[in-house]
Formats: sequence, C-alpha cells, structure tokens
Amino acid sequence: MPFLSLLSIFLVGFLSRSQLVVTQMLNDDQTTLLAIGKELKLSEWNGNNSDHCNWPGISCSSNNSFVQRLDLSNHWLQGNITLISDLKSLKWLDLSHNNFHGNIPFSFGNLSELEFLDLSFNSFEGSIPKELGVLKNLRALNISNNLLMGVIPNELQGLEKLQDLQLYTNRLNGTIPHWISNLTHLSVFTAYENELSGFIPDKLGLVTELQLLNLHSNQLQGSIPEAIFAMQKLETLVLTQNKLTGYIPESIGNCKVLSSIRIGNNNFIGGIPKEIGNITSLTYFEADNNNLSGEIVKEFSKCSNLVLLNLASNGFTGTVPIEFGLLSSLQELIVSGNSLFGEIPTSILKGKNLNKLDLSNNRFNGTIPLSICNTSRLQFLLLSQNSIRGEIPHEIGNCVKLLELQLGSNYLTGNIPPEIGRIKNLQIALNLSSNHLRGQLPEELGRLDKLVSLDISNNQLSGNIPSALKGMLSLIEVNFSNNQFNGQIPLFVPFQKSPNSSFLGNNGLCGEPLSASCEGLDSNSYHHKVSYRIVLAVIGSGLAVFASVFVVVLLFMMREKQEKAAKNEVTDNNETNNKPLILAGNVFVENLSQAIDFDTIAKATMKDSNKLNWGTFSTVYKAEMPSGMILSVRRLRSMDKTLIHHRNKMIREVEKLSKLFHDNLMRPIGFVVFEDTMLLLHQYFPNGTLAQFLHDSLEKPDYKPDWPGRLAIAIGVAEGLAFLHHVAIIHLDISSGNVILDCNFNPLVGEIEISKLLDPSRGTASISAVAGSFGYIPPEYAYTMQVTAPGNVYSYGVVLLEILTTRLPVDEAFGEGIDLVKWVHTASVRGETPEQILDSRLSTVSFAWRKEMLAALKIALLCTDSVPAKRPKMKNVVEMLQEIGSN
Ligand SMILES: *[C@@H]1O[C@H](CO)[C@@H](O)[C@H](O)[C@H]1NC(C)=O
Ligand SMILES: *[C@@H]1O[C@H](CO)[C@@H](O)[C@H](O)[C@H]1NC(C)=O
Ligand SMILES: *[C@@H]1O[C@H](CO)[C@@H](O)[C@H](O)[C@H]1NC(C)=O
Ligand SMILES: *[C@@H]1O[C@H](CO)[C@@H](O)[C@H](O)[C@H]1NC(C)=O
Ligand SMILES: *[C@@H]1O[C@H](CO)[C@@H](O)[C@H](O)[C@H]1NC(C)=O
Ligand SMILES: *[C@@H]1O[C@H](CO)[C@@H](O)[C@H](O)[C@H]1NC(C)=O
Ligand SMILES: *[C@@H]1O[C@H](CO)[C@@H](O)[C@H](O)[C@H]1NC(C)=O
Ligand SMILES: *[C@@H]1O[C@H](CO)[C@@H](O)[C@H](O)[C@H]1NC(C)=O
Ligand SMILES: *[C@@H]1O[C@H](CO)[C@@H](O)[C@H](O)[C@H]1NC(C)=O
Repeated sequence: MPFLSLLSIFLVGFLSRSQLVVTQMLNDDQTTLLAIGKELKLSEWNGNNSDHCNWPGISCSSNNSFVQRLDLSNHWLQGNITLISDLKSLKWLDLSHNNFHGNIPFSFGNLSELEFLDLSFNSFEGSIPKELGVLKNLRALNISNNLLMGVIPNELQGLEKLQDLQLYTNRLNGTIPHWISNLTHLSVFTAYENELSGFIPDKLGLVTELQLLNLHSNQLQGSIPEAIFAMQKLETLVLTQNKLTGYIPESIGNCKVLSSIRIGNNNFIGGIPKEIGNITSLTYFEADNNNLSGEIVKEFSKCSNLVLLNLASNGFTGTVPIEFGLLSSLQELIVSGNSLFGEIPTSILKGKNLNKLDLSNNRFNGTIPLSICNTSRLQFLLLSQNSIRGEIPHEIGNCVKLLELQLGSNYLTGNIPPEIGRIKNLQIALNLSSNHLRGQLPEELGRLDKLVSLDISNNQLSGNIPSALKGMLSLIEVNFSNNQFNGQIPLFVPFQKSPNSSFLGNNGLCGEPLSASCEGLDSNSYHHKVSYRIVLAVIGSGLAVFASVFVVVLLFMMREKQEKAAKNEVTDNNETNNKPLILAGNVFVENLSQAIDFDTIAKATMKDSNKLNWGTFSTVYKAEMPSGMILSVRRLRSMDKTLIHHRNKMIREVEKLSKLFHDNLMRPIGFVVFEDTMLLLHQYFPNGTLAQFLHDSLEKPDYKPDWPGRLAIAIGVAEGLAFLHHVAIIHLDISSGNVILDCNFNPLVGEIEISKLLDPSRGTASISAVAGSFGYIPPEYAYTMQVTAPGNVYSYGVVLLEILTTRLPVDEAFGEGIDLVKWVHTASVRGETPEQILDSRLSTVSFAWRKEMLAALKIALLCTDSVPAKRPKMKNVVEMLQEIGSN
C-alpha cells in the first residue's frame, strides 16, 4: 500500500511534470508565433484566439500543439524570418510570393523535421546557406525567383531524400555539381535562368526518377549526356539558350515517355536520329537556331501526339516528308530559315489542328495549293522568301482564321484575289510584296478592319488606290511603293501619316504624303470620270439625248441605292428576328438581375454598330437594356473549341472572379452563353479605354496636359496587376486597350477572365492563341511560349511607355522592325536624350513634372528589359511609382 501510494504520487508527479513540459513547449510555439506575427505585422495572429493552431496559415500535429505547417505564401510580407527556425516541429514551410529580403537565415538548418521548404518568388539575396544541407528529411526545396548568387553549395548533397529541387531565375554561377546524380529520388530539377556554366553531369542518367530537367538560359557547354535518356521516366527536357554542342544522341529514342524536348538556341550539329520516331509520347520538339543538317526525318510522323515541331534556322535540306500528313495533332510546323525545297506539303494542310505553318526563307518552289484551308484552321501562314510560283488561289478566302499572311519575296503572278477580303481576322500583317502581281487592288481589301500592316510593294499593281481601303480601320503600316498605281492617294489618316517612301515608285500617284499634288486631276474614281465624259459627249450631241441619258443614269443610281437599302434591311431583319438560343446565364449582383435581359444582350452583340472595341481574345459591345441600363458585353472569340467544351468549368471560374475585389480590376457582373458563344457582362463606362484616352487625345484641340492624372492611372494599372499576381493569376493580354477608365478616370484592368478561361498550362488553349496583343508581347515568349509574371511586367512596361510618350506600341515612324520598346531603349544610341522621348506637351509644363516623368521612364525601362529575370516584380513597380507620386 505505501509502496503503491508512493508510486502513484510519483506517477502523478511525473505525469503533471511531463504535462508541464508539454504545455511549456506548447507555449513556446505560441510565443514564437506571436513574435513572428509582430515582426511580420500579421494582424490576425494575436492572443485573442487562445488556440494558435486555429490561426490562419497554421496547422499543428493532432496529438499535441506543435506547429507542423506554416503557410504564409502570397501575403506581401517583409521582415526578419529568422524566428521561424524556433518552430522545431515544422515539416512544411511555404513563404513563397512575398517580399522578403536579405539572406536566407542559416538557422533554418535547425528545422530538422522539415520536408517542404518553399521560399520562391521573394527577393532573397546572398548565397544559398550551406546549413540547409543538414535537412535530411527535405523532399522539396524551392528557392527559385530570388536574387541568389554564388555557387550551388556542396553541402546540399546531404539532402538524400530530395525529390524536387527548384533553383530557377536567380544569379547562381559555377557548375552543376556532380553529386546531383547521387540524389536518387530526384524527380524535378530546374535551374533555368541562372549563370551556370560547365558541363551537364554525365551521370545524371543514374537519377532514375528524374521526370523534369529544365536548364534553359544558362552558359552550359558540352554535349547532352547519353545517359540522360537511359532514365525511363524523363518527360520534359529543356536546354534552350545555352552553348551546348555535339550530336543529338540516338539513345534519345529509348526514353518513351519524353513529351517535351526543347533544345533550341544552342550549337548542336548533325541530323536528327531516326529513333525520334520511337518516342510515341512526344508532344513538343523544338530545336531551332542550331547547326543541324540533313533531311527532316520522316520518322517524326510516328509521333502521333506531336503538337509543335520547330526546326527553324538550321541547315536542313530536302522536302517536308509527305508522311507528316499523319500528324493529326500538329498545331505548329516551323521550318523557316533552312534550305528546304519542293511543293508546299499539302498532306499537312489536311490536319484540322494546324494553326501555324512557317515555311519562310527556304527554297520551296511549288504553288499555293487550292486545298490550302479546306480543313485546317490556320492562323499563321508564312511563306515569304521562297520561290513559290503561280497565282494566289481564290481559295485563300477560305482561310478565315488567319491572323497573319506572309507571301512576300516569291514569284507569284496574276491578280490579288478579292477573296482575301473575307479573311476578317487578319490583323498582324498582310504581306504580298516583291512578287509579280498585277491588276487592280480589289476593293474588298477594305473589309480587313483589324489589319495593322499592309505591304504590297514591289509588284506591278495598277489603277487607283481604292478609297474603300479606308475601311482598314486598324492600319498602322502601309507600303504601296514600286508599283504602277495612279490617281490620288485617298484621304485616310494612316496613309497621310506614312512617310512618302510608302508611295514612291508609282509614276501616276499624287496627293499627300507625296509632294506631287493632284491639281487638274479629278480626284474621284474611274466611274465618275466616265460619267463626266458622258456628260461632255452628251452636251456635244444635243439636249434630247442628254436628257434621256441623264434619266437613265439617274434611274440606275436610284435603283442601286434602293438595292443597297434593301440589303441592309434584310440583314437587319435577320439579326433582330432570329431569337438567340440562350443556353445559360447568370447575374452575380442581386439588385441588378431585374434590370438585365439576356435576349437583349445576345442581340446587341449581333450588331456591328454596337461594337465598342476589340482585343486579341474578345470583342466588346454596348448593350442597352429595356430598363435603360447600359452594359458592356465582352464576346469571347472562341478560337478554341475547348472553350465551349469546358463551359461548366468556365462558368465556375467566372463566378469565382466575380468575387475578386480590387479597385483596379474590372469584375464580371454576369455572363450569358448562347449558341457557341460566351458573353461576359460588365459595367459600362463611357470614358472608354486607356488606349482611346491616350491616342485619341492627340487630335483633340482642347487637350489639357495632366501628368499627375496619367501617373495615377499608371499606378492604378500596376496595383491591379500586382493584385492579380498576388492571387497567382497571370494576365494573358495586357494592353492599353484592355484598361478601362471609369467615371473618375480610375483605371480598371479588364480581360482578366480570359486568363482563367484560356490557361495554357491546363492545355485548354492552342499555343499561338495566347500571345497577347501585337507590340506588348515579351521577347522571351518566342522561345518559352509561356506567359509569365515577368512577361506581364514587360507588357505593363509597354503601357507605361505609352503613357509617357503618347505613342502607339507599334508605329511605322520608329523605323523598320522597331517597336516602341526598341525605339525608347535605343534613344541614347541615336544620341537622343530621354526628354526627346517623353510627350513634350507634359514634360515641358514644369520642372517637377519632367523630373517625375524621367523617374517613371526609368521604371518603364526596367520593366521592358529583354531579360525576364532583370524586370522588377509588379508589387515593386507599384512601390517605385508611388514613391514618384509622393515626392
Ligand atoms: C483583439 O482583442 C482586442 C481586445 O479585445 C481588440 O482590441 C482587438 O481589436 C482584437 N484584435 C483583433 C485582430 O481582432
Ligand atoms: C504524435 O503522433 C505522431 C504520429 O502522428 C507520433 O509519431 C508521435 O510520437 C506522437 N507524439 C506524442 C507526444 O504522442
Ligand atoms: C534577423 O534577426 C537576427 C536576430 O534575431 C539577426 O541575427 C539577423 O541578422 C536578422 N536578419 C536580418 C536579415 O535582418
Ligand atoms: C541551432 O541549434 C544549435 C543547437 O542545436 C544552436 O547551438 C544554434 O544556436 C541554433 N542556431 C540558431 C541560429 O538558432
Ligand atoms: C516550388 O516548388 C515546389 C516543389 O516543386 C512546388 O510544389 C511549389 O508549387 C513551388 N512553388 C511555387 C510558388 O511555384
Ligand atoms: C560567381 O559570382 C560571384 C559573385 O558575383 C563571383 O565572386 C564569383 O567569382 C563567381 N564565380 C564563378 C565561378 O563564376
Ligand atoms: C556518389 O555516390 C557514390 C556511391 O554511393 C560515391 O562513391 C560517390 O563518391 C558519390 N559521388 C559524389 C560526387 O558524391
Ligand atoms: C526505334 O527506331 C528505329 C529506327 O526508326 C527502329 O528501327 C526500331 O525498330 C525502333 N525501336 C523500337 C523499340 O520501336
Ligand atoms: C524545285 O527545286 C528542286 C531542287 O532545286 C528541283 O529538283 C525541282 O525540279 C524544282 N521543282 C520545280 C517545280 O521547279
């Protein structure tokens, strides 16, 4: 008994003591969290809720209250994070997408339980602390997108359980260490966009689990180690933009699960091994800008999943194998800049998915096939600089999806077929220059109201420049030079704004911008000249005849007018009588649902007169409700059928977006799905877009310079985008045309829905469809084909330049091949001062304005740096701009 009681006393004492210990440790974690909360200004972490395990971002182990997971990602945080290393039980730490500076604390080496560490998308500096190498349990280490320097420390080889190692977009140098091949569990290894040099370790092939290896944009040398392909799990291999040499090994065919191979912009030599055909899962093969040679192997045709094949700028010869017709998934075939010849491969044109065909700068010597767009949905047809003969077939008009048509520098003959006017989507360029085309320009070209660049120079075209071309409302660049045109150049701003070189070499042309004036010439069309002559003749031959001819002419003209009117009526009736078939619709704002009528909305988008503007992915209409309320309706261009297939998912995404509150974002207030079209509803603001505000103000005589107003707009747009990045949304089409100004000229970033609806990483979009707007596309997109946050910063930089210069992102005035970004960046080379770049109507108003504009110009230059890693983050752009405003 006494023994027992003694024991029980002892036990009780022991238990309460251990409880005390537990409680104390428990309090320790809470104390640590309170201190961290104070340091990082996390207002939600306070003592009000006694159980810290319920605080946001925290989870604890179930049987005690030790903090096991800490997720503070996406919070704009800054401050000292050293204290986190006191949370000794931590297994999972995510601090990504914040604003942390300074060194990564070496005390993190004390978090011995840690399995997941994500410090990516911050501004950590210095070197990678070697202390991290003791984290034996670490499975994922992500320190990408920081400012880390120096070499990859050898101590990291202690991370034996590592599965994911992400080091991309830093300033790391030295070589890729050999011990990397001893990390036998490694499945993801990325170190792209660094300054790594030396060879890719030979034995990387021993890492049997490796699925993804991405080392692009470094200074790596040597060849691809054969052993890499011995690993049967490698799916993605990206080595673009290095200094790699040697042959592509035959062993590449051993790796059956490879889906993406991107080795462009290196110095590889030799041919492509036939074994490529053994990789049945191959989706992307990109090997442009190397020294590869030989014929394009027909074995590619066995890769039935191939979506993109890019072999541009190499030394390939021979023809495009007809077997390529088997590639039914192919979206892009890019073989420009080689020595290929023969016919344009008609077998490929059968592919329904073919989106881009780039054969330019080769020796193709066939004709343009009549079947050119029977089945394909081509958006890019690039055939310039070849030896293509024959006429442009009328069937070209079937290519209604084309965004760009390049046929320049060939041997094309005959007339320009009027059917080109049916290609209403044509917007990037129509280039028929340097051929042997003759005859008159078809008036139908005037229907191309989205076209930015038209080049028909160096042909034998004749007749007048039809005034119907004034329908080309988006035109910026034109070139009519070296033809046989005559008569007056029509009065049309894009024509008169062009340099006279655009019209030179045509003996019969007169009027601005040429110096030859049209005096004495009847400026009107051929038909009017004829009737003028008829009248003259009539006067000569007696009044009676004159009267009857006059009546005939009059009757004829009246009938024509009536016919036209009747035609218009028919189309109008079609539009209004056909009741649109509404499949789904919703209004998210409760007190508005009464006032909104879906039928009216759908009908409004069928009338061109309601069109407000258009972008890469959508057209915007104005819709007036029976209630008198006016809406802005965005009609998505369903370039991608999948858009419709994923309708329910899209609707969910739109509903989610409607809950995204920010002063500088245009939120959807509802949607309508009718037939195969999706309409997004927004509030209507009569002030229009930023593009209209900037570029239409040029012509306004009552323009009042307002730099503070412009700066506020710049800050607002930056804030909207920073918020989007904060919630991990990448915008797919940033342009001044997608910024709407509300009644107070507060900017609202629009077209955010498309970023969710067309997310390329989810494979719901065709690859070319996501490039964004002409002039705003970041240069790296050409080889990464990914829109990224730094890519968004670039596009924003273009908008900021527009605000500062009041110039368009693409303008012929900059010179050939030069856009706004290049023009500004090369100002000093041209010997111009920054002041010559700025809009002088603003910069000359006051010394203070000029100073602020120069500071903003510096930011715009940073944003548009050609190296994505050098661009600031959006949130930093906001801070820098705000600083300008507050000084
Ligand atoms: C915590 O409680 C105090 C006192 O009750 C209160 O003043 C404070 O606002 C609360 N903090 C938060 C973030 O709820
Ligand atoms: C808590 O549970 C984990 C397993 O979930 C176990 O490993 C650990 O020993 C337990 N700790 C205590 C104090 O019971
Ligand atoms: C953070 O605080 C620790 C002391 O707690 C100090 O040693 C360290 O230098 C600080 N780090 C930074 C980046 O200020
Ligand atoms: C890490 O832990 C060791 C002992 O376990 C201790 O001496 C050291 O001070 C700790 N480091 C930091 C930075 O907390
Ligand atoms: C960092 O890498 C890990 C492991 O690959 C990954 O799970 C995580 O999503 C990455 N973080 C970010 C912000 O991309
Ligand atoms: C790496 O960069 C650091 C800091 O910029 C420099 O001191 C060092 O010499 C570089 N090392 C190599 C191998 O290039
Ligand atoms: C890799 O591991 C092997 C055997 O475990 C060992 O002999 C070799 O030294 C290690 N290599 C490196 C670079 O650490
Ligand atoms: C791999 O490709 C070569 C050359 O095309 C072919 O002879 C061989 O049969 C293929 N092997 C397999 C396993 O498919
Ligand atoms: C096209 O060029 C190839 C190679 O120069 C030549 O053999 C062939 O005869 C040419 N075809 C035509 C139709 O000119």
